[in-house]
Amino acid sequence: MKGLLTLKQLSVEKILELIHFAEDLKKGCRLSYPNKKVATLFFENSTRTHYSFQCAILNLEAKILDFDAKVSSVSKGESLYDTVKTLEAIGVDAVVIRHQEDEYFKQLEGINIPILNGGDGKSNHPTQSLLDLMTIHEEFGKFEGLKICIVGDIAHSRVAHTNIEIMRRLGMEVYISGPEEFNDNSAEWIPFDEAIEKMDIIMMLRVQFERHQEKMKMSIEEYHKKYGMTEERMNKMKEHAIIMHPAPINRGVEIASNCAEAPKSRIFAQMTNGVYIRMAVISQALDGKLSC
Ligand code: CP
Repeated sequence: MKGLLTLKQLSVEKILELIHFAEDLKKGCRLSYPNKKVATLFFENSTRTHYSFQCAILNLEAKILDFDAKVSSVSKGESLYDTVKTLEAIGVDAVVIRHQEDEYFKQLEGINIPILNGGDGKSNHPTQSLLDLMTIHEEFGKFEGLKICIVGDIAHSRVAHTNIEIMRRLGMEVYISGPEEFNDNSAEWIPFDEAIEKMDIIMMLRVQFERHQEKMKMSIEEYHKKYGMTEERMNKMKEHAIIMHPAPINRGVEIASNCAEAPKSRIFAQMTNGVYIRMAVISQALDGKLSC
């Protein structure tokens, strides 16, 4: 299958190549695909992934077909496979899909156009991880030996799961922290206040209330006090250390509002980098090109 479904399918060399290409695109290298059409299919809500993919398509001078599941034949029972097969048949060159089901792409064996995964259930968010890695590379110029702690609702986070796997492969030391109820043992656990003082990167996560089967065992106020990025905690971080967050952010829950836009925060830089990463991934899917 063409496209990008998970980072596990990519070698470290290919991931570094994509990041370097995105950095070149950010420096101004230009590509143009005026005869290509890319459809964006978002079955789950999104702001960053949806619209940064669309900005990337426009920056590449390709055309966007924005699929709206609510007014499509999905509402008449058409399957995901038949929806994508239809887009392929009418001449779409690639599709971006976000879906609530883990590994939805397993239903799409037999599709011949590239599929770019915009997030599946709790499992994968490959372009988010790539933009996180680009932001880290931009900051530190390397991955090997960097210490990161991912903090919060690990169990429900496709970002955490994707990042833990690839960051380990890149030689980073990956830790997790937050409430025990969200610990799925996907990496070594560390107390949050210890992580604050030791890490190069603290990556905060949103509490994904919409995915919870049971109510969280503490109030939002208690969560913020015990596991939130507060000004006091931010001031205890190493001088060179940075704060990341895939967003959307819940100001006052996992992060205090003034920390979100503090000099240590790279949250909005991550979003900017997302456009270049998605341009690189689309270019690779359309014609295998990873240079201008
Ligand atoms: N980070 C991220 O995936 O955000 P959206 O849900 O807004 O796309």
